[in-house]
Amino acid sequence: MMADTGQHVAIIMDGNGRWAEQRGQPRLVGHHAGAKRIREIVEACPAVGVKYLTIFAFSTENWKRTQSEVSGLMRLFKRYIRRESQNLVDDGVRVRFIGDRINLNEQLASTMDELELVTADNKRVNLTIALNYGGRDEVTRAVQRLAREIEQQRLTAKEVSAKVLAGFLDTHFLPDPDLVIRTSGEARISNFLLWQSAYAEYEFIETLWPDFNSEEFSQLVLKFRTRERRYGAVL
Ligand code: IPE
Ligand code: IPE
Ligand code: MG
Repeated sequence: MMADTGQHVAIIMDGNGRWAEQRGQPRLVGHHAGAKRIREIVEACPAVGVKYLTIFAFSTENWKRTQSEVSGLMRLFKRYIRRESQNLVDDGVRVRFIGDRINLNEQLASTMDELELVTADNKRVNLTIALNYGGRDEVTRAVQRLAREIEQQRLTAKEVSAKVLAGFLDTHFLPDPDLVIRTSGEARISNFLLWQSAYAEYEFIETLWPDFNSEEFSQLVLKFRTRERRYGAVL
């Protein structure tokens, strides 16, 4: 069994709205403050041995929010990508997106494609951004693609294994997360990495996302390394 190095950490960045409300500010102010926290966490990864960082930016359920919050978030994503692009290249960060791009604004989708392209050769940290991502939606889309392969007789039903199915998921290029952190005190996973987190360790912490910092992140990663993972066996 592989050593528990905690090489893949995934974060549900929650609490932006409450952070803003506590300050009597509109929710979008919280989203802007939240976006600013990402760079510090990404830059903290190499020192604590995290090779893969996956962050939940927008869920397939977040379309239920007001139109002004949704469009503000979409504008923020586009601006964030443009603004951070050079910095991510300089930091050796490879960025990839997971989630369904079909419902995204064309301009946003093309900035996402561009960022993936310009960072494709980077190797220091792998940053995966989940945007319009939902675990059930991802599995559904994977099964649709898989069914198409069977229809076209490139695959038989019998050949479908967990490994084959995982290869059809958006995360096919990622190892499973070792540690999933959720900020803001909510102890639920809200449709994040359902398949991939089967044996992940969880940390639900009180800090609101815009207050999260590299110190707390590093502490959580170091704490993770002291846990014993059994994967159903007796060790
Ligand atoms: C997380 O913060 C960011 C997104 C879901 C886009 P929230 O906006 O959910 O903040 P709270 O939970 O309302 O405080
Ligand atoms: C999960 O947070 C999604 C993201 C962090 C992008 P939500 O705030 O949308 O989750 P719920 O609604 O509290 O379950
Ligand atoms: Mg929330």
